[in-house]
Amino acid sequence: MSRPDVLVGFMGAGKSTVGELLAVLKGTTFIDVDREIERRTSRSIPDLFNDGEEQFRELEEQVITELIEAREHGVIAPGGGALSRPGTRALVRKQARVLFLDAPAEVLWQRVEADGGAGTRPLAVNFHRFEDLHSQRQTLYVTAADAIVDAAADPETVAIACRDAGVVRPGALERIGELADGRRAFVVVDLPVADRIPEGLEVYTLPGGEQCKTVSHVEALWRAFAEAELERRDLVVAIGGGAVTDVTGFAAATFRRGLDWVSCPTTLVGQVDAGIGGKTGIDVAAKNDVGSFHPPVAVLADPSLLTTLTDREWRAGFAEALKTGLLAGGPLWELVREWPTTRGTDDERWTLVRRCAALKHRVVAADPTEQGVRAILNLGHTIGHGVEHAAGGRYLHGEAIAIGLVAALQLSVEHAGLDVAIADEVLGALTRQGLPTVAEDVAPEAVLAAMCSDKKRVAGRTRFVLLEAPGRPVWGVELDDDAVAAAVAAACR
Ligand SMILES: NC(=O)c1ccc[n+]([C@@H]2O[C@H](COP(=O)([O-])OP(=O)(O)OC[C@H]3O[C@@H](n4cnc5c(N)ncnc54)[C@H](O)[C@@H]3O)[C@@H](O)[C@H]2O)c1
Ligand SMILES: [Zn+2]
Repeated sequence: MSRPDVLVGFMGAGKSTVGELLAVLKGTTFIDVDREIERRTSRSIPDLFNDGEEQFRELEEQVITELIEAREHGVIAPGGGALSRPGTRALVRKQARVLFLDAPAEVLWQRVEADGGAGTRPLAVNFHRFEDLHSQRQTLYVTAADAIVDAAADPETVAIACRDAGVVRPGALERIGELADGRRAFVVVDLPVADRIPEGLEVYTLPGGEQCKTVSHVEALWRAFAEAELERRDLVVAIGGGAVTDVTGFAAATFRRGLDWVSCPTTLVGQVDAGIGGKTGIDVAAKNDVGSFHPPVAVLADPSLLTTLTDREWRAGFAEALKTGLLAGGPLWELVREWPTTRGTDDERWTLVRRCAALKHRVVAADPTEQGVRAILNLGHTIGHGVEHAAGGRYLHGEAIAIGLVAALQLSVEHAGLDVAIADEVLGALTRQGLPTVAEDVAPEAVLAAMCSDKKRVAGRTRFVLLEAPGRPVWGVELDDDAVAAAVAAACR
């Protein structure tokens, strides 16, 4: 068995419920460390705790070590404080995949109260103390985890998001060999990162960028797969920007009726968006018009690869991160609204990518084929795509989305009750980052025409995603033609 998943998080995060469900999804079993300790000692946790916390943590570490080493259970949930001991932290980080089930203190408190309330748990005496401890533990969990999972959703969605969350941390690509687990791994890599991948892998290099999303590149990939005699049990690994993961995922989806693939996004757009969620495809008559839903079996993202991006590519990715922050609200919104004009420190970048990935995983888990809530990811994309198309390649996707976001937030102020101060703040943040907020030399008619041919239209109507407040998107909003025309006119100069 490959390394087990260790679920960490504050009380109320749902470690046991999610753990059971995740184990079923993975075809393995779940074990709760506290219950196991109680079973072994025939004493209750509060009773053991009374002997002294240090002594309890020592016992806890010993049990966790045994459980991880035995490799009998694929999902393990220690108590909320287990990682406070450095030895336990080091152990789980080395030998397991650590997933942090993250949710706001208010949500967790409500769950704890509903579950019998304060008093049944020694550390849940009142909300104030609960919130303090929650924020202290936050740092511990964030730094120890291989990925953050948004645990505010229902348990089924959280379990799926756990299964798919992958590993988002420096050195993540080192896990390719382990994931392959004896299977052959055929790696397709984007040129600029070709020298950053682990040694000893079978590699095919792609030039990268939008120009590789063509039928001829897919054919070349199919032929390379055939020449390498890839079989259904082999694994394709795509390492690169959104273009490389899109085209390689599509080639994997269609070769021999589908090979498993691993997505390793190396751009900011890729790590917060494109490399996650299973949409694969190429451009034929229009952008992304040929493709399939073929979810990767894992996503491995190393944020330290982002340092070699050009400033322009970084900024384009930041527009998508800002969009994600608006959708998520909470700590991610706080992080992006205060983002400096630089790329931030390694830690800040790491947190940014992981929180954005968590939101996308949660949304995709709830709606993998975009029948409903997944549409929120298109915030800023309705007019943004129109601008991108009408500008004929002058704007990168993320730049067009910056323009589209400003328009969508203005519409949100007018039609969804968004506080105008938020719209102004986003405008300021985008400007500070050096992103465009109005399309230069683009005719509004051309943008409207491009919006009419967008594949997200339903029965001839353009539907919008609007924002009531950070963290509160609404989707499927139909606006009258005059309102749309006015928004587009305001987005163009
Ligand atoms: N599948 C999805 O859900 C989804 C979502 C959003 C976007 N996309 C697609 O993603 C594509 C855009 O992705 P993108 O913004 O990553 O652009 P990209 O893939 O075109 O990459 C931009 C450039 O960066 C280079 N590059 C890659 N990694 C690098 C690194 N670490 N350092 C330096 N250079 C690097 C690439 O070679 C390329 O020249 C579009 O085709 C878009 O349609 C897909
Ligand atoms: Zn986008």
